[in-house]
Amino acid sequence: MNCRRLIYVFGCLNLLVAYTFIEVSGENNAPLGTCNFPAIYNFGDSNSDTGAAFAAFTGMQHPYGISFFGNISGRASDGRLIVDFLTEELKLPYLSAYLNSVGSNYSHGANFAVGGSSICPGGYNQFHLGLQVAQFLHFKSHTNILFNQLSDNETEPPFKSSLPRPEDFSKALYTFDIGQNDLAFGLQHNSMEKVIKLSPEILSQFFKAVQILYNEGARVFWIHNTGPSGCLPISYIYNVPNKENLDANGCVKPQNELAHEFNRQLKEQVVQMRTKLPLARIKYVDVYTAKYELITNARNHGDLQVLEFCCGSYYGYNIVS
Ligand SMILES: *[C@@H]1O[C@H](CO)[C@@H](O)[C@H](O)[C@H]1NC(C)=O
Ligand SMILES: *[C@@H]1O[C@H](CO)[C@@H](O)[C@H](O)[C@H]1NC(C)=O
Ligand SMILES: *[C@@H]1O[C@H](CO)[C@@H](O)[C@H](O)[C@H]1NC(C)=O
Repeated sequence: MNCRRLIYVFGCLNLLVAYTFIEVSGENNAPLGTCNFPAIYNFGDSNSDTGAAFAAFTGMQHPYGISFFGNISGRASDGRLIVDFLTEELKLPYLSAYLNSVGSNYSHGANFAVGGSSICPGGYNQFHLGLQVAQFLHFKSHTNILFNQLSDNETEPPFKSSLPRPEDFSKALYTFDIGQNDLAFGLQHNSMEKVIKLSPEILSQFFKAVQILYNEGARVFWIHNTGPSGCLPISYIYNVPNKENLDANGCVKPQNELAHEFNRQLKEQVVQMRTKLPLARIKYVDVYTAKYELITNARNHGDLQVLEFCCGSYYGYNIVS
Protein backbone atom coordinates (compact mmCIF):
# COMPACT_ATOMS: atom_id res chain seq x y z
CA MET A 1 0.00 0.00 0.00
CA ASN A 2 1.44 3.37 -0.79
CA CYS A 3 0.63 6.56 0.99
CA ARG A 4 -1.62 7.90 -1.71
CA ARG A 5 -3.93 5.08 -0.92
CA LEU A 6 -3.51 5.70 2.77
CA ILE A 7 -4.62 9.27 2.28
CA TYR A 8 -7.56 8.16 0.17
CA VAL A 9 -8.83 5.58 2.60
CA PHE A 10 -8.08 7.77 5.55
CA GLY A 11 -10.28 10.49 4.14
CA CYS A 12 -12.87 8.10 2.84
CA LEU A 13 -13.42 6.26 6.07
CA ASN A 14 -13.37 9.18 8.32
CA LEU A 15 -15.16 11.84 6.43
CA LEU A 16 -17.00 10.04 3.66
CA VAL A 17 -15.59 12.64 1.35
CA ALA A 18 -12.30 11.20 0.23
CA TYR A 19 -11.95 13.55 -2.68
CA THR A 20 -11.85 16.58 -0.43
CA PHE A 21 -9.26 15.10 1.85
CA ILE A 22 -6.63 16.95 -0.01
CA GLU A 23 -3.03 16.61 0.77
CA VAL A 24 -1.69 19.99 -0.17
CA SER A 25 1.91 19.53 0.71
CA GLY A 26 3.05 20.75 -2.70
CA GLU A 27 6.71 19.92 -2.60
CA ASN A 28 8.30 16.77 -1.31
CA ASN A 29 5.47 14.81 -2.79
CA ALA A 30 7.31 11.68 -3.75
CA PRO A 31 5.56 8.62 -2.43
CA LEU A 32 6.73 7.57 0.99
CA GLY A 33 7.20 4.09 -0.33
CA THR A 34 5.38 1.43 1.51
CA CYS A 35 3.47 2.49 4.57
CA ASN A 36 4.79 -0.23 6.78
CA PHE A 37 4.84 1.91 9.85
CA PRO A 38 5.29 -0.35 12.87
CA ALA A 39 3.99 2.31 15.27
CA ILE A 40 2.25 5.66 15.54
CA TYR A 41 3.13 8.37 18.03
CA ASN A 42 0.43 10.99 18.21
CA PHE A 43 0.39 14.46 19.76
CA GLY A 44 -2.63 16.69 20.03
CA ASP A 45 -5.88 17.71 21.66
CA SER A 46 -9.37 16.21 21.84
CA ASN A 47 -9.37 15.76 18.06
CA SER A 48 -7.08 12.78 18.59
CA ASP A 49 -7.23 11.97 22.32
CA THR A 50 -7.97 8.27 22.79
CA GLY A 51 -8.27 8.30 26.56
CA ALA A 52 -5.86 10.73 28.20
CA ALA A 53 -8.28 13.43 29.35
CA PHE A 54 -10.62 10.69 30.47
CA ALA A 55 -7.85 9.15 32.57
CA ALA A 56 -6.49 12.45 33.85
CA PHE A 57 -9.64 14.39 34.61
CA THR A 58 -12.51 11.88 34.19
CA GLY A 59 -15.56 13.17 32.36
CA MET A 60 -16.90 11.78 29.08
CA GLN A 61 -19.88 9.94 30.35
CA HIS A 62 -22.44 7.65 28.84
CA PRO A 63 -23.58 7.73 26.01
CA TYR A 64 -20.20 8.74 24.56
CA GLY A 65 -18.78 5.71 22.80
CA ILE A 66 -21.88 3.55 22.63
CA SER A 67 -22.34 3.49 18.86
CA PHE A 68 -19.00 2.00 17.94
CA PHE A 69 -17.12 0.90 21.05
CA GLY A 70 -20.21 -0.18 22.96
CA ASN A 71 -19.31 1.88 25.99
CA ILE A 72 -17.28 4.88 27.08
CA SER A 73 -14.14 4.78 24.96
CA GLY A 74 -12.20 7.67 26.47
CA ARG A 75 -12.73 9.72 23.33
CA ALA A 76 -14.56 13.04 23.19
CA SER A 77 -16.60 11.46 20.46
CA ASP A 78 -19.20 8.76 20.13
CA GLY A 79 -17.38 7.03 17.30
CA ARG A 80 -13.83 6.76 16.09
CA LEU A 81 -11.40 9.61 15.60
CA ILE A 82 -9.26 10.22 12.53
CA VAL A 83 -6.31 8.68 14.36
CA ASP A 84 -8.37 5.51 14.91
CA PHE A 85 -9.01 5.18 11.18
CA LEU A 86 -5.35 5.78 10.55
CA THR A 87 -4.33 2.95 12.88
CA GLU A 88 -6.96 0.68 11.34
CA GLU A 89 -5.68 1.38 7.86
CA LEU A 90 -2.11 0.64 8.93
CA LYS A 91 -3.35 -2.60 10.53
CA LEU A 92 -2.22 -1.45 13.95
CA PRO A 93 -4.17 -1.62 17.21
CA TYR A 94 -5.89 1.52 18.48
CA LEU A 95 -3.46 3.76 20.31
CA SER A 96 -3.38 3.62 24.09
CA ALA A 97 -3.16 6.97 25.81
CA TYR A 98 0.16 7.48 27.57
CA LEU A 99 -1.74 8.75 30.61
CA ASN A 100 -4.01 5.73 30.82
CA SER A 101 -2.57 3.21 33.24
CA VAL A 102 -5.30 0.61 32.86
CA GLY A 103 -5.21 -1.99 30.10
CA SER A 104 -2.76 -0.07 27.93
CA ASN A 105 -0.53 -1.69 25.36
CA TYR A 106 2.17 0.37 23.69
CA SER A 107 3.65 -2.24 21.40
CA HIS A 108 2.64 -0.23 18.31
CA GLY A 109 2.84 3.31 19.57
CA ALA A 110 1.37 5.64 22.10
CA ASN A 111 -0.90 8.63 22.16
CA PHE A 112 0.24 11.74 23.98
CA ALA A 113 -2.75 13.86 22.93
CA VAL A 114 -4.89 15.26 25.74
CA GLY A 115 -8.27 16.91 25.24
CA GLY A 116 -8.00 20.67 25.75
CA SER A 117 -4.27 20.88 24.99
CA SER A 118 -2.62 23.63 23.05
CA ILE A 119 0.78 24.11 21.45
CA CYS A 120 1.83 26.87 23.85
CA PRO A 121 1.79 26.57 27.62
CA GLY A 122 -0.87 28.44 29.55
CA GLY A 123 -4.04 27.25 27.81
CA TYR A 124 -6.92 25.13 29.04
CA ASN A 125 -4.73 22.47 30.66
CA GLN A 126 -1.12 21.67 31.54
CA PHE A 127 -0.58 19.21 28.71
CA HIS A 128 0.75 21.57 26.06
CA LEU A 129 2.75 20.18 23.16
CA GLY A 130 6.13 20.75 24.84
CA LEU A 131 5.02 18.63 27.77
CA GLN A 132 3.62 15.94 25.49
CA VAL A 133 6.99 15.75 23.75
CA ALA A 134 8.78 15.62 27.13
CA GLN A 135 6.51 12.72 28.07
CA PHE A 136 7.42 11.04 24.81
CA LEU A 137 11.14 11.36 25.59
CA HIS A 138 10.59 9.80 28.98
CA PHE A 139 8.47 7.07 27.44
CA LYS A 140 11.11 6.32 24.82
CA SER A 141 14.06 6.06 27.17
CA HIS A 142 12.10 4.20 29.83
CA THR A 143 10.60 1.63 27.47
CA ASN A 144 13.98 1.12 25.78
CA ILE A 145 15.58 0.19 29.10
CA LEU A 146 12.69 -2.02 30.13
CA PHE A 147 12.46 -3.73 26.76
CA ASN A 148 16.09 -4.75 26.97
CA GLN A 149 15.73 -6.00 30.53
CA LEU A 150 12.63 -8.13 30.08
CA SER A 151 12.44 -11.59 28.61
CA ASP A 152 9.65 -12.86 26.41
CA ASN A 153 8.38 -15.24 29.01
CA GLU A 154 7.62 -12.92 31.93
CA THR A 155 4.70 -14.23 33.92
CA GLU A 156 3.67 -10.91 35.40
CA PRO A 157 3.64 -7.31 34.20
CA PRO A 158 5.35 -5.46 32.76
CA PHE A 159 5.16 -7.66 29.69
CA LYS A 160 7.65 -7.17 26.93
CA SER A 161 4.88 -7.63 24.38
CA SER A 162 3.17 -4.45 25.54
CA LEU A 163 6.27 -2.32 24.92
CA PRO A 164 7.49 -0.82 21.65
CA ARG A 165 10.58 -2.32 20.09
CA PRO A 166 13.41 0.23 20.41
CA GLU A 167 14.23 0.04 16.71
CA ASP A 168 10.66 0.99 15.78
CA PHE A 169 10.87 4.57 17.04
CA SER A 170 12.74 5.78 13.98
CA LYS A 171 10.40 3.89 11.62
CA ALA A 172 7.19 5.14 13.22
CA LEU A 173 4.69 7.67 11.92
CA TYR A 174 4.53 10.84 14.02
CA THR A 175 1.14 12.53 13.82
CA PHE A 176 -0.12 15.89 15.07
CA ASP A 177 -3.50 17.53 15.45
CA ILE A 178 -3.04 20.55 17.64
CA GLY A 179 -3.50 24.32 17.51
CA GLN A 180 -7.26 24.64 17.75
CA ASN A 181 -7.08 25.40 21.47
CA ASP A 182 -4.36 28.00 21.04
CA LEU A 183 -6.79 29.87 18.81
CA ALA A 184 -9.86 29.26 20.97
CA PHE A 185 -8.12 30.18 24.21
CA GLY A 186 -6.50 33.16 22.52
CA LEU A 187 -9.83 34.48 21.28
CA GLN A 188 -11.37 34.16 24.71
CA HIS A 189 -8.67 36.37 26.18
CA ASN A 190 -7.45 38.57 23.34
CA SER A 191 -8.56 40.34 20.21
CA MET A 192 -8.42 38.62 16.85
CA GLU A 193 -5.51 40.88 15.83
CA LYS A 194 -3.53 39.88 18.91
CA VAL A 195 -4.09 36.17 18.23
CA ILE A 196 -2.95 36.60 14.63
CA LYS A 197 0.13 38.39 15.92
CA LEU A 198 0.80 35.49 18.30
CA SER A 199 0.56 32.87 15.56
CA PRO A 200 4.24 32.97 14.52
CA GLU A 201 5.24 32.33 18.14
CA ILE A 202 2.74 29.46 18.43
CA LEU A 203 4.13 27.96 15.24
CA SER A 204 7.71 28.35 16.36
CA GLN A 205 6.82 26.32 19.47
CA PHE A 206 5.30 23.76 17.14
CA PHE A 207 8.49 23.61 15.10
CA LYS A 208 10.55 23.17 18.26
CA ALA A 209 8.48 20.13 19.20
CA VAL A 210 8.93 18.55 15.77
CA GLN A 211 12.65 19.31 15.88
CA ILE A 212 13.10 17.57 19.23
CA LEU A 213 11.41 14.47 17.83
CA TYR A 214 13.56 14.69 14.69
CA ASN A 215 16.70 14.87 16.82
CA GLU A 216 15.48 11.71 18.56
CA GLY A 217 15.32 9.93 15.22
CA ALA A 218 11.72 10.55 14.13
CA ARG A 219 11.55 10.84 10.35
CA VAL A 220 7.98 10.74 9.06
CA PHE A 221 5.59 13.45 10.19
CA TRP A 222 1.89 13.77 9.41
CA ILE A 223 0.58 17.19 10.37
CA HIS A 224 -3.11 18.08 10.40
CA ASN A 225 -3.96 21.71 9.95
CA THR A 226 -6.59 23.16 12.25
CA GLY A 227 -10.27 22.59 11.54
CA PRO A 228 -13.07 25.12 11.06
CA SER A 229 -13.64 25.68 14.76
CA GLY A 230 -16.19 28.38 13.88
CA CYS A 231 -18.45 25.47 12.95
CA LEU A 232 -18.35 23.89 16.40
CA PRO A 233 -21.76 24.04 18.10
CA ILE A 234 -20.21 25.95 20.98
CA SER A 235 -19.00 28.71 18.63
CA TYR A 236 -22.36 28.90 16.96
CA ILE A 237 -24.21 29.17 20.27
CA TYR A 238 -22.08 32.07 21.44
CA ASN A 239 -22.71 33.89 18.17
CA VAL A 240 -26.43 33.29 17.76
CA PRO A 241 -27.14 36.92 18.70
CA ASN A 242 -24.63 38.16 16.08
CA LYS A 243 -26.15 36.78 12.90
CA GLU A 244 -23.86 38.92 10.77
CA ASN A 245 -20.97 36.77 12.03
CA LEU A 246 -22.46 33.59 10.65
CA ASP A 247 -21.95 32.15 7.17
CA ALA A 248 -24.55 30.22 5.16
CA ASN A 249 -23.79 27.07 7.15
CA GLY A 250 -24.20 28.82 10.49
CA CYS A 251 -20.44 28.75 11.09
CA VAL A 252 -18.80 31.73 12.76
CA LYS A 253 -16.92 33.54 10.01
CA PRO A 254 -14.25 35.45 11.99
CA GLN A 255 -13.26 32.28 13.82
CA ASN A 256 -12.90 30.33 10.60
CA GLU A 257 -10.94 33.19 9.05
CA LEU A 258 -8.55 32.98 11.96
CA ALA A 259 -8.18 29.22 11.41
CA HIS A 260 -7.49 29.94 7.73
CA GLU A 261 -4.77 32.43 8.57
CA PHE A 262 -3.22 30.06 11.09
CA ASN A 263 -3.23 27.28 8.50
CA ARG A 264 -1.64 29.54 5.91
CA GLN A 265 1.21 30.19 8.34
CA LEU A 266 1.40 26.53 9.35
CA LYS A 267 1.78 25.52 5.73
CA GLU A 268 4.64 28.02 5.34
CA GLN A 269 6.18 26.66 8.50
CA VAL A 270 6.02 23.14 7.07
CA VAL A 271 7.83 24.28 3.93
CA GLN A 272 10.58 25.73 6.12
CA MET A 273 10.71 22.61 8.25
CA ARG A 274 11.46 20.55 5.15
CA THR A 275 14.57 22.62 4.59
CA LYS A 276 15.65 22.63 8.20
CA LEU A 277 15.03 18.92 8.75
CA PRO A 278 16.40 17.46 5.52
CA LEU A 279 15.98 13.80 6.45
CA ALA A 280 12.32 14.21 7.37
CA ARG A 281 9.25 13.46 5.29
CA ILE A 282 6.61 15.95 6.35
CA LYS A 283 3.01 15.86 5.18
CA TYR A 284 0.71 18.82 5.67
CA VAL A 285 -2.84 17.49 5.72
CA ASP A 286 -5.75 19.80 4.96
CA VAL A 287 -8.28 18.64 7.50
CA TYR A 288 -9.96 22.05 7.45
CA THR A 289 -11.20 21.65 3.88
CA ALA A 290 -12.41 18.11 4.48
CA LYS A 291 -14.37 19.03 7.59
CA TYR A 292 -15.82 22.15 6.05
CA GLU A 293 -16.94 20.26 2.98
CA LEU A 294 -18.60 17.68 5.19
CA ILE A 295 -20.46 20.40 7.06
CA THR A 296 -21.48 22.18 3.86
CA ASN A 297 -22.84 19.00 2.34
CA ALA A 298 -24.12 17.43 5.52
CA ARG A 299 -27.47 16.64 4.01
CA ASN A 300 -25.87 14.70 1.17
CA HIS A 301 -24.11 12.57 3.74
CA GLY A 302 -27.25 11.70 5.69
CA ASP A 303 -29.34 13.71 8.06
CA LEU A 304 -26.47 15.13 10.08
CA GLN A 305 -27.25 17.88 12.56
CA VAL A 306 -23.86 19.49 12.29
CA LEU A 307 -24.44 22.48 14.51
CA GLU A 308 -26.27 20.66 17.26
CA PHE A 309 -25.04 18.76 20.24
CA CYS A 310 -25.65 15.09 19.87
CA CYS A 311 -27.12 14.72 23.30
CA GLY A 312 -27.59 16.55 26.51
CA SER A 313 -27.76 20.30 26.58
CA TYR A 314 -25.59 23.34 26.76
CA TYR A 315 -27.35 26.16 28.55
CA GLY A 316 -30.57 24.82 27.10
CA TYR A 317 -29.49 24.99 23.46
CA ASN A 318 -29.84 22.39 20.76
CA ILE A 319 -30.81 19.29 22.60
CA VAL A 320 -31.21 16.36 20.29
CA SER A 321 -32.54 13.25 21.92
C1 LIG B 1 -20.12 0.60 30.58
O1 LIG B 1 -19.21 1.04 31.58
C2 LIG B 1 -19.76 1.24 32.85
C3 LIG B 1 -18.70 1.78 33.78
O2 LIG B 1 -17.90 2.72 33.18
C4 LIG B 1 -20.31 -0.06 33.38
O3 LIG B 1 -20.96 0.17 34.62
C5 LIG B 1 -21.29 -0.67 32.39
O4 LIG B 1 -21.66 -1.94 32.82
C6 LIG B 1 -20.68 -0.77 31.00
N1 LIG B 1 -21.69 -1.18 30.06
C7 LIG B 1 -21.51 -2.16 29.21
C8 LIG B 1 -22.64 -2.45 28.26
O5 LIG B 1 -20.47 -2.79 29.16
C1 LIG C 1 12.54 -17.44 30.33
O1 LIG C 1 13.54 -16.79 29.58
C2 LIG C 1 14.83 -16.80 30.18
C3 LIG C 1 15.77 -15.92 29.37
O2 LIG C 1 15.24 -15.56 28.13
C4 LIG C 1 15.34 -18.23 30.27
O3 LIG C 1 16.59 -18.27 30.88
C5 LIG C 1 14.34 -19.07 31.08
O4 LIG C 1 14.70 -20.43 31.08
C6 LIG C 1 12.92 -18.92 30.51
N1 LIG C 1 12.00 -19.55 31.42
C7 LIG C 1 11.04 -20.38 31.01
C8 LIG C 1 10.15 -20.95 32.06
O5 LIG C 1 10.86 -20.65 29.82
C1 LIG D 1 -0.01 -6.02 23.08
O1 LIG D 1 -0.48 -5.90 21.76
C2 LIG D 1 0.22 -6.71 20.83
C3 LIG D 1 -0.30 -6.37 19.43
O2 LIG D 1 -1.67 -6.27 19.38
C4 LIG D 1 0.00 -8.17 21.19
O3 LIG D 1 0.71 -9.00 20.30
C5 LIG D 1 0.53 -8.38 22.60
O4 LIG D 1 0.28 -9.71 23.03
C6 LIG D 1 -0.13 -7.43 23.58
N1 LIG D 1 0.49 -7.57 24.87
C7 LIG D 1 -0.18 -7.73 26.02
C8 LIG D 1 0.59 -7.89 27.28
O5 LIG D 1 -1.39 -7.72 26.04
